[in-house]
Amino acid sequence: MKRIAILTSGGDAPGMNAATRAVVRKAIYEGLEVYGINYGFLGLVNGDIRKLELGSVGDLLHRGGTFLYSARYPEFATEEGQLKGIEQLKKHQIDGLVVIGGDGSYHGAEALTKRGFPTIGIPGTIDNDISGTDFTIGFDTALNTVLDALDKIRDTATSHERTFIIEVMGRDAGDIALWSGLAGGAEAIIVPEESFNMDDVVDRLNKGRERGKKHSIIVVAEGVMSGNDFAKQLAEYGDYHARVTVLGHVQRGGSPTAFDRVLASRLGARSVELLLENRGGLAVGIRENRIVENDISEILKEKHTLDQKLFDLASILSI
Ligand code: F6P
Repeated sequence: MKRIAILTSGGDAPGMNAATRAVVRKAIYEGLEVYGINYGFLGLVNGDIRKLELGSVGDLLHRGGTFLYSARYPEFATEEGQLKGIEQLKKHQIDGLVVIGGDGSYHGAEALTKRGFPTIGIPGTIDNDISGTDFTIGFDTALNTVLDALDKIRDTATSHERTFIIEVMGRDAGDIALWSGLAGGAEAIIVPEESFNMDDVVDRLNKGRERGKKHSIIVVAEGVMSGNDFAKQLAEYGDYHARVTVLGHVQRGGSPTAFDRVLASRLGARSVELLLENRGGLAVGIRENRIVENDISEILKEKHTLDQKLFDLASILSI
């Protein structure tokens, strides 16, 4: 292994830059050359590849987004796309690849490894929906962004004695909703992994009202339904005319938290070690504060699950 490359793919996440920096610096420290591929798998197929030096990743650790740019490129699922990608890697004499991204990016990494090109996956997505790791890079930052918004909405909700619905991202996963709802003391947390009953939600709000609560906040994960649809249903069930806030892409930006920077640094460095050992087809992750690696195909087969105990705790504490 003499020359490795790195790309970021799918939705960006705060901390992707910190992970890229770690890969570049650790690789150079180990005597490797590193190449950056712009725009994820799209850039790989198009040969949008440049050499990275120690200085290329300077002043990057604290920046959100990804300086390698990102793209969603479903065409990489085709044989044609994958063969073109491998052709580019060979042309640039690259021996190993690190892919930072979510589920779709892992499929690309798996396909390249199956075709004989060692590739490592680093979990980078705000959704926290990748198996084999307790946390994905970007989740903690997104969570704190949501929490900041939730705290601010609580101020105005109290002043006007209003009910607020906050729609958060997460695709099919409810982690952002659950963790922000628990941290922000939401009255109800609606996630795709748990069924809900609108009568129960209304009952909960009514009880709060009866004991003098000045506001109610409901966090709805986008994977269940939109915040606006939830508000319409809620109005049909009870006397609640909720205001809706859709946080949207604000959740994807911003400077990564210390947690995300440290996680990204650890995972980036471990990826390089694995490539140095000539091991591909692995996804790195963190489990009980230890850096681990798992077979990427196994990770893709496992469905991410919500922390049931945390969900139960959130509903106990919000009565
Ligand atoms: O996967 C990250 C994510 O932000 C999801 O939470 C969301 O559903 C999706 O990406 C939005 O995708 P896009 O930025 O392409 O609209």
